[in-house]
Amino acid sequence: MPKRLHLIVACSENRVIGRRGGLPWSIPEDTAFFQEKTLGQTVIMGARSFGEWPSCVRGRDVVVVTHAAASLPAAIHPATSLPEAIAKAQTLRGDVYLCGGQRIYEEGLPLADMLHLTLVHTEIADGDTFFPDWRIHFAQEIARRESRDARWRYTFLTLAP
Ligand SMILES: NC(=O)c1ccc[n+]([C@@H]2O[C@H](COP(=O)([O-])OP(=O)(O)OC[C@H]3O[C@@H](n4cnc5c(N)ncnc54)[C@H](OP(=O)(O)O)[C@@H]3O)[C@@H](O)[C@H]2O)c1
Repeated sequence: MPKRLHLIVACSENRVIGRRGGLPWSIPEDTAFFQEKTLGQTVIMGARSFGEWPSCVRGRDVVVVTHAAASLPAAIHPATSLPEAIAKAQTLRGDVYLCGGQRIYEEGLPLADMLHLTLVHTEIADGDTFFPDWRIHFAQEIARRESRDARWRYTFLTLAP
């Protein structure tokens, strides 16, 4: 049986996930949530997202989608497409988590069994990387938890197709 395929993301109300190569926010509680969810699992991400978080190798198996596999550290499993990455992840540890960026999310959304969405209650005007509209594929709310810090208000949502 194929492993469970999760998609994990934080996006703003206008579906921004990134700005100038980084996150538009810094939310320690969301970072901790992401780390805890993916620990001991296999994560799949694009080359730019991996560049931003190279330390993810600790405690996880990592598949990076890229056409420049030669530049990756030896511990990383390279793939040239999302289907190849998902196939490779079947042989690695735990469940599979799709961790961005934009194209991984666009291609992965119709395939995923579970969506872990941190909805950040803000509009980011100058975002340059986006999450697709998830509501068509993920209509069923399994869990919801509201939270906030000094700067941001956000909701942790677990959604199923
Ligand atoms: N908010 C969040 O939850 C979240 C999560 C992740 C990332 N981000 C943000 O998103 C931005 C980075 O995302 P991004 O979309 O710009 O880049 P990305 O997907 O991380 O990396 C893009 C590169 O990965 C490869 N790639 C990605 N998807 C591919 C596919 N389906 N098939 C073949 N190759 C693929 C290509 O590499 P080659 O050119 O080497 O072939 C492409 O140039 C940053 O701002 C980051 O902070 C946010």
